[in-house]
Amino acid sequence: MKNKSEFLSFTIDLAKKAGAIQLSYFGNISSIEKKSSNIDLLTKADIESEKLIISKIKERYPNHSIISEESKTHLKDSKYTWIIDPLDGTTNFAHNLPIFAVSIALMEEDNIIMGVVYNAAADKCFYAELNRGAFLNDKLIKPSNTEMLSDSLLATGFPYLHDKKYDLSFKIFKDFYDQTRGLRRLGAAALDLCFVAMGRFDGFYEYNLNTWDICAGALIASESGCKVSDWDGKEFPKDGSRILCTNSKIQNKMIEILTKPQYKIYFNLS
Ligand code: IPD
Ligand code: CA
Ligand code: CA
Repeated sequence: MKNKSEFLSFTIDLAKKAGAIQLSYFGNISSIEKKSSNIDLLTKADIESEKLIISKIKERYPNHSIISEESKTHLKDSKYTWIIDPLDGTTNFAHNLPIFAVSIALMEEDNIIMGVVYNAAADKCFYAELNRGAFLNDKLIKPSNTEMLSDSLLATGFPYLHDKKYDLSFKIFKDFYDQTRGLRRLGAAALDLCFVAMGRFDGFYEYNLNTWDICAGALIASESGCKVSDWDGKEFPKDGSRILCTNSKIQNKMIEILTKPQYKIYFNLS
């Protein structure tokens, strides 16, 4: 992108610095903590990456609000809020799988105006600003042209909480598996969204995510030309409770499955 905003240049630089911290621990983790459950992990890389990101944002934009996964929300009386996942894909990271990223978004009031997702292990930097297109390492990206579900490759993920919705989500998985070329569960939602944006996947859906998992990736996807919505096609909840992202051409077919009556009631769709 020519003429990147000051926000974007700052954030790309910051995401790359945080990515360098992650790489310094990658393959070399001495201890792993547990958060909400035995499978919800936290490493030193999550903490150190977040420390750097928050301190640099506070230094440069002391009046802005910050919402970041591993620390308290710092709310200020500002129209700007930074939404940060300091390490998306911690389970992959802990198992030496190079599918993890830094995800940083900036909101102005209720609008996501900028998003950066940096996959340090592959040195891939995805970014977008509102109404200015989406880029991967400075090249414009576009979603796929796949029109049929039967020609599609999809992605999804599963939450750490194993409840009734979790059981049903495997039925949804099977419905899609029966009708597509397959589904992948990569374990880093921010990258799943970017991979739809660049045409690797034709669609992605998930529930029970958090705002830091989706805000940057959702803007990158919509700026690339993807449709990003709730499971029923309405505006997606920014808290990450449900998200559907497609190349736009298979959107209606995915909505048909996601809104089957037996799923609708459990996933709070009207
Ligand atoms: C997780 C990843 C994963 C998704 C989980 C998220 P984390 O984020 O995005 O793909 O399925 O629900 O919590 O914990 O690695 O930052
Ligand atoms: Ca995450
Ligand atoms: Ca995380």
